Amino acid sequence: MLDNVLFDYINAEDFISENAVCNMKEAALSARDTLLSGSGEGNDFLGWVDLPVDYDKEEFMRIKSAADRIKHNSDVFIVIGIGGSYLGARAAIEYLRHSFYNNVSKQIRKTPEIYYVGHNISSAYITHLIEVIGDRDFSVNVISKSGTTTESAIAFRIFKGLLETRYGKDGAAERIFATTDRERGALKMLADELGYETFVVPDNIGGRFSVLTAVGLLPIAVSGADIAKLMEGAAAMRKSCINKEYEDNSALLYAAIRNIMYNDGKSVEVLANYEPSLHYISEWWKQLYGESEGKEHKGLFPASVDFTTDLHSMGQFIQDGARIMFETVIDIEEDELPLVMSEEKGNVDGLNFLTGMTLANINKEAMRGTRLAHMDGGVPNLIIKVKNKSEYSLGALFYFFEFACGVSGYMLGVNPFNQPGVEDYKKNMFALLGKPGYEEAREELLARLR
Ligand code: PA5
Repeated sequence: MLDNVLFDYINAEDFISENAVCNMKEAALSARDTLLSGSGEGNDFLGWVDLPVDYDKEEFMRIKSAADRIKHNSDVFIVIGIGGSYLGARAAIEYLRHSFYNNVSKQIRKTPEIYYVGHNISSAYITHLIEVIGDRDFSVNVISKSGTTTESAIAFRIFKGLLETRYGKDGAAERIFATTDRERGALKMLADELGYETFVVPDNIGGRFSVLTAVGLLPIAVSGADIAKLMEGAAAMRKSCINKEYEDNSALLYAAIRNIMYNDGKSVEVLANYEPSLHYISEWWKQLYGESEGKEHKGLFPASVDFTTDLHSMGQFIQDGARIMFETVIDIEEDELPLVMSEEKGNVDGLNFLTGMTLANINKEAMRGTRLAHMDGGVPNLIIKVKNKSEYSLGALFYFFEFACGVSGYMLGVNPFNQPGVEDYKKNMFALLGKPGYEEAREELLARLR
């Protein structure tokens, strides 16, 4: 069966020789073996590999029933989390659901408005969000594996307070859903003490690989998307990633070509899309690859652009600036909502040559033209074809990127499953804020800032 997600480097043969791809075969297969046998670094974080075929079915049913309750009793749903505890859910919801999800009428949307908080420390953002909720009924899903992340903990304290004022402690407890560690952490303790329903971030799955756990699934289910289909798509892609020969294996080829590009001196991979709904998929992808590979002074810098919008801003640099990048385009093949250009008398705007074409056709030609132009400008272009905008295809896309990331990281020679660099800013922030235990660091930092 043909996969719903296919990687292709067709048209990029001026930059990538078949020989080079062939020469990477052994390294890619060996990285896949390392991943699947659990013999590499970070092997205690491989729970995502089998997740699509080996997930907790009882919890899955609880997620669906919690989502139904939230849909029934809430006008607004607040998702609190940051990084891996936020981006996957937002990526899926913005990709699958209405482009103006929160603005469209409830009759069309049928589900609560959804807002995200805890991914910044902005008082304006939080104050404005409280204004948006107003006196409407709302529920909260606080997501934090560690249970101690500052940004999300601050937001949770504020929204928990708001819920308790409005519904009382017991009423609030019925509207708070905590997704966190199975046993440990401040959030787990609080949830047990106050009687919140809890969902698990498995020990062996890192944040950026957690979208198909309760971390992503509860918010995605609240948005009305079909999470069973999401898991099915991921399971199908898992089968391909594990079983297909190198030459037909999209994830292995993508991992191999990223490494060919890196070894050829490219330092930036630009992920491009031609559909605004893919914006947060790119944000999720940036975290996945940035945190997995950017270590020991190695790794491609993952950047993203939304076309055709950014052709009018970043287009110039990609076409003609420093030749440091290659481009990977996500192309959604089927058009779900065809809009057709009509003829206009007089043709004053000169657009009658487009009469009868769908906007999808026009967008496709913009994509094809841009890819060729960028290649003429010296930017290798790769393509990831996604069959359609469905839960099934999205599950496949998530899994494709995760698997390729694990393989690519091992090929690069790093541990793709840790993130030691993320801690450094936290230490400084805690010291400057006067957290107990950071007194010495505080003195040193203040001296440097003077
Ligand atoms: O991928 C990661 O590990 C991080 O992005 C975390 O998800 C992020 O820092 C949030 O952590 P936590 O879920 O512990 O609040």
